[in-house]
Amino acid sequence: MKAAEKVVVLDFGGQYTQLIARRVRELKVYCEILPYNISYEDLCATEPSALIFSGGSASVYEPGTPRCDPRFYELNVPIMGICYGMQLMAADLGGEVKIGKHQEYGKTNLFVADDQDLLAGVSKEFVGWMSHGDQVVAVPPQFNVIARSNNTAVAAMADRARKYFGLQFHPEVIHTPQGKLILTNFLQNICAFSGDWTMENFVESSTAEIKRMLDSRERVVCGLSGGVDSAVAAALVHRAIGDRLVCIFVDHGLMRKGEKEAVMSTFGREFNMNLVAVDAGHEFLTLLRGVTDPEAKRKIIGNHFIRVFEREADKLGDISYLVQGTLYPDVIESGTATAAVIKSHHNVGGLPDDMRLGLIEPLKFLFKDEVRQVGLELGLPEEIVWRHPFPGPGLGVRILGEVTAEKVAVLQEADAIVIEEIKAAGLYREIWQVFAVLPNILSVGVKGDRRTYAHTIVLRAVTSHDGMTADWYPLPYELLGRISSRLVNEIPEINRFVYDVTSKPPGTIEWE
Ligand code: XMP
Repeated sequence: MKAAEKVVVLDFGGQYTQLIARRVRELKVYCEILPYNISYEDLCATEPSALIFSGGSASVYEPGTPRCDPRFYELNVPIMGICYGMQLMAADLGGEVKIGKHQEYGKTNLFVADDQDLLAGVSKEFVGWMSHGDQVVAVPPQFNVIARSNNTAVAAMADRARKYFGLQFHPEVIHTPQGKLILTNFLQNICAFSGDWTMENFVESSTAEIKRMLDSRERVVCGLSGGVDSAVAAALVHRAIGDRLVCIFVDHGLMRKGEKEAVMSTFGREFNMNLVAVDAGHEFLTLLRGVTDPEAKRKIIGNHFIRVFEREADKLGDISYLVQGTLYPDVIESGTATAAVIKSHHNVGGLPDDMRLGLIEPLKFLFKDEVRQVGLELGLPEEIVWRHPFPGPGLGVRILGEVTAEKVAVLQEADAIVIEEIKAAGLYREIWQVFAVLPNILSVGVKGDRRTYAHTIVLRAVTSHDGMTADWYPLPYELLGRISSRLVNEIPEINRFVYDVTSKPPGTIEWE
């Protein structure tokens, strides 16, 4: 993406690299992450106005250690090295790095030696988060020491003439309480950035970019799932090209209660989008009849979803592009961060070759919280913007064993009660995902004076950052009690309620 003020973080394999980019963006400066071994030409093409070298686990004096092209030092832009990034800078520019006598991990007391610019306003003695074995023992020519610790003679260094700075500690983590101030100093005092990257500007510039890159007759299709990412991507593209965007919403009959209505009302009525809603619930349930194996269920739902989407897209006639709600973390992981927002004639996964659709991925440079802000900026309702993630196969992986229309209806009701109570308790945004599961267990109970033999509902509530790991959420007992009595009283098919207290690993978030 082109931005007047742009920081490029070169990733040397540090665990906090994404966090650095997020912090810079929080300070309203656009920031991208690129691999450390990007070529000089490719880096120049992104037009960086400052560089940050990330941390990393390597030692600069070992053979085969990650190094960048030395011409990056000739770009005439400010550079800040963090941890390994500082050691690399020291080694590259004529300083000396050695394995430290005392390795430093965790919160460390640091002392400011020079508070002219990078450390302006920072307390004389401050806490920095350290995580290093090696250390700079001699700064390169033209550098000064600007902070030290009891164990590290060079905890921060500066070459003011060239605007090169190094920090042995991590300013991006919350354990360095004045880290934000240090990053602000770098961006404002050293790079002289004004900090004008806002979601409002993002909406303006990406709308203009989509308009510019599409021919005035080209039509675009988008699959709406009810999830945040596709919703925001569709709203953004709609803002750029209006009716030339056609959204397809495939209702596989395994949605949460009220989901279809919310999509229809927001996109069909409020946004007045060109929206095709396909009611395919019956087809999916027919295909799922008698199927109990979790993987087989997933495959059936996934494959048929693509078939239905394809069938509808084919009816639309001439379509050139498909909108996808890809986010920045996926792009960073797949190592394709330099690609433009619009790719021509990419072979879109799952769709037939003869459709020859290009891809529009308007959110591919955004983190999830930024996507939510863009959604609000575009006027999407909070209910859609803050909706918890929902798996593609929907309730199909939350009903264990065979999926039937009756079980879907029971689970939809139960899930709606759970969500309503969690929202009423003000916990919805704090929790990554909360939902009901129908484990297909019938047990004996008694309601009134009558014996019952009915379904159990499991409640799953987890916190997570990315869905890769998760912790079960300790819901208050009173709330669990309220949910329990509502479920067994309001839904005749339910007579028991249990709470899942398994983290991931060893459990997964979904039950199938
Ligand atoms: P698991 O169950 O693997 O889930 O711990 C991790 C996260 O991924 C979501 N999930 C899916 N999302 N299609 C999706 O789009 C899927 O097939 C799928 N399966 C799981 C899950 O809800 C959780 O957020």
